[in-house]
Amino acid sequence: MDGDGDGGFILLDRVEKVFDVRKRTGFLKRERRRVRAVDSLSFAVARGEMVGYIGPNGAGKSTTVKMLTGILTPSGGRLRVAGIDPTRERMRLAHRIGVVFGQRTTLWWDLPLIDSYRLMHRMYRIPDARYRANLERLVELLDLRALLDTPVRQLSLGQRMRGDIAAALLHDPEVLYLDEPTIGLDVVSKTRVREFLRELNAERATTVLLTTHDLQDIEQLCSRVMVIDHGRLMYDGPLAGLHRAGESERTLVVDLEREMPPIDAPAPARVVRVEGPRQWLAFPATESAAPLVARIAAQYPLVDLSVREPDIEAVIAKMYAERADQADQADGVDGVDGVEQAEQAGAAEQADAAGRAVP
Ligand SMILES: Nc1ncnc2c1ncn2[C@@H]1O[C@H](COP(=O)(O)OP(=O)(O)OP(=O)(O)O)[C@@H](O)[C@H]1O
Ligand SMILES: [Mg+2]
Repeated sequence: MDGDGDGGFILLDRVEKVFDVRKRTGFLKRERRRVRAVDSLSFAVARGEMVGYIGPNGAGKSTTVKMLTGILTPSGGRLRVAGIDPTRERMRLAHRIGVVFGQRTTLWWDLPLIDSYRLMHRMYRIPDARYRANLERLVELLDLRALLDTPVRQLSLGQRMRGDIAAALLHDPEVLYLDEPTIGLDVVSKTRVREFLRELNAERATTVLLTTHDLQDIEQLCSRVMVIDHGRLMYDGPLAGLHRAGESERTLVVDLEREMPPIDAPAPARVVRVEGPRQWLAFPATESAAPLVARIAAQYPLVDLSVREPDIEAVIAKMYAERADQADQADGVDGVDGVEQAEQAGAAEQADAAGRAVP
């Protein structure tokens, strides 16, 4: 059995990850805090699917990917990749998955690029003929030929990323996790990486889970997108669904002195829920709440009120709408900060073997 049978090639059933964090709160004082990075997360990805996995900073995306590789052990729930429990059989799984963490490298910093590939050839025990064929193909497709003898530390970020993607695919993995593979890349490199991924998916039916903050990655590569926030799945469906949800709204919660009929609000604001003396009014997120509040305060016995922001699904939808408007101008100015951050992270974490799933 390879994991397709029970509903998905990648399968999560109420997966949890809780971190115990110790924080210094003063001289000799430490506080223990629990961070629920992934909270009862369930989803299934079929073989050959290319799925976008998005959400704000700290949402739990990288934590999910690390659990899917076996680097981190879930605190609860059930998780399978190709029928394998990553925690229990990390080495066996390593032969079937490829991982690219955009923020760090799995390559050997001081060695020429080709030496990293030779080491992987050995580590993964890739048959010689297959190694040669895959290397040739990846070098060609990712335009690496001129870089093979260059030490990794001398590569630009975009060159290194292409080198990392090749490294993740030398052993013909069936699943590829990409955690921000286009971070800090210029427009040309991004386009090249996206084209390559599209081809890989079309030719080899490689299953891809793609985490990114660049919504164009998703637009160009994924027909399905999952949105995660606070470790929970907020949306799972076609990209078009996110677009449609674009009309995001805020909610004004009003407490009146007593139970009353629904407030007569000026359109497009309207009452969406009444519970005793409390009423909920939806209004466009782009409008100020002030006129609405003033009007209600003048006409109703108001005790208290609060404004709730749209949920993450709506926020992301709105982001998409804005993004589509500026799509053309935005392209040229991407990623200056990203380059610096990623380079620092790469240098600092080079010694961290986390991303290098050694079989
Ligand atoms: N090793 C760790 N120890 C303690 N807390 C952690 C650890 N790794 C992640 N966290 C916490 O778990 C939460 C989720 O982090 P994660 O890195 O998965 O987010 P993310 O969705 O990848 O965010 P980003 O978009 O910034 O990459 C955050 O609150 C983070 O601080
Ligand atoms: Mg992350």
